[in-house]
Amino acid sequence: CLLLQSCRLHSKRLPLSRLPVIYGHRLASTDSGSSGGNAAPNRLNNASAKSLFLCGQEFESDDYTNLTDRIIEQVNCGLHRQRGHPLWLLTNRIVGHFNANYTRSRSRPLFTVVDNLSPIVTPEQNFDSLLIPADHPSRRPSDVYYLNRGRLLRGHTSAHQCDLLRQGLDAFLVVGDVYRRDEIDRSHFPVFHQMEGVRIYSQEQLFAGAKDSADSLRMFDRSRNRTDEQQAGHSVETSKLLEHELKSCLEGLARRLFGSSIAYRWVPAYFPFTHPSWELEVRHSQSDGGEADWMEMLGCGIVEQRLLDGCGLPNRTGWAFGLGLERWAMQLFSVPDIRLFWSKDPAFLAQFAQPCQPGADLWQPVQYKPISVYPPCPMDLSFWLPAADASFHSNDFYDLVRSIAGDLVEQVSLIDEFRHPKDGRMSLCYRIVYRSHERTLTSEEARTVHDQIAKSAVTRWAVQIR
Ligand code: PHE
Repeated sequence: CLLLQSCRLHSKRLPLSRLPVIYGHRLASTDSGSSGGNAAPNRLNNASAKSLFLCGQEFESDDYTNLTDRIIEQVNCGLHRQRGHPLWLLTNRIVGHFNANYTRSRSRPLFTVVDNLSPIVTPEQNFDSLLIPADHPSRRPSDVYYLNRGRLLRGHTSAHQCDLLRQGLDAFLVVGDVYRRDEIDRSHFPVFHQMEGVRIYSQEQLFAGAKDSADSLRMFDRSRNRTDEQQAGHSVETSKLLEHELKSCLEGLARRLFGSSIAYRWVPAYFPFTHPSWELEVRHSQSDGGEADWMEMLGCGIVEQRLLDGCGLPNRTGWAFGLGLERWAMQLFSVPDIRLFWSKDPAFLAQFAQPCQPGADLWQPVQYKPISVYPPCPMDLSFWLPAADASFHSNDFYDLVRSIAGDLVEQVSLIDEFRHPKDGRMSLCYRIVYRSHERTLTSEEARTVHDQIAKSAVTRWAVQIR
């Protein structure tokens, strides 16, 4: 699965519909390489539940509305724009790398950085403009935060590709918060940050480096069909050059950030908006000294020509990538838990302050040192769904847990489910692990929160606690 924030093993019991939603997925074989400010507060208008306020705007609710207060509080958080925050530090290192290596005439940066676009987008922006089919699972309300049928919180920064291309940008980086309904654990959080990179070329630009033969090379060759390696109508040279430019750009970035001895590999992947597509995996050693693991760091590919045609750019070709900033930052700064990025604890933020000072060296090494580790407090909750045909989605339960327990919940997982042999009702058992980053939770405290969750589940879905 490719979800830039997350990829985890699911218990065999889980029905397929529980797999995280994806904009693409990995293909079977593996080829290896070498070693914005919002004035009014956001709120759900609970009294009438007819509308909600987000980023200073009012939105009518409808049958798709599924935002929770917890999510609403985090919309437009702008962590990547807060100087001193680890995501700010990472963003600035990446932008610094691009600016140092890609320039126009008179050393002007080639890539335009866009970091303040509203996360509220339309289904057209998030899906249709990217050729994501109408029946694609990534559109389901169980996986997306909808304000209403016409607006949603972007699930990826790719949502802005077409708008920016239509505006005439030919090389850009988009940084922003993205939202996906998902389970909760150390590497999953329903809000995270992505950076999107897109570069498109005219024929002259693409072959500018090919000196002698530049005049004879053609970007398009109508006789060529689509294969695993290339798009229909792209000449062989175009396919090869774009792939080379894309991969060397990203390999350069990975080496600059993680060191030149980093081990990485390219894995073929699928996205509706690029072809061919790949994921970049980087090897990292386990902190417990166990076997080294490959971790997917980004998704990328050659932009579908149909997408460029749709943006009025039929005589351009190009590439795009999207990377999850938290995932890179966790790896780079040894941050063990994604929820730490939301911490306002000065003991956390202070560890990143030094390289973020104006004029300081952004690249001075930073390694997060855990402030202290408090014990986890796991508790199980089992219940019967009210009827054999009751519709219930675990993501709704995760959201309920998150809105009640907030940051005290470290992980929620479905550990057991079975159907009553006589009346056909389902029984589900969730394990909720409570843990605080600030103190040791007493079992009474955890119990109080746990009881509240049970009560709300009863009110909301008429479940019967076992
Ligand atoms: N938007 C994709 C995702 O979030 C990543 C991606 C971006 C892939 C650009 C290809 C090109 O999963």
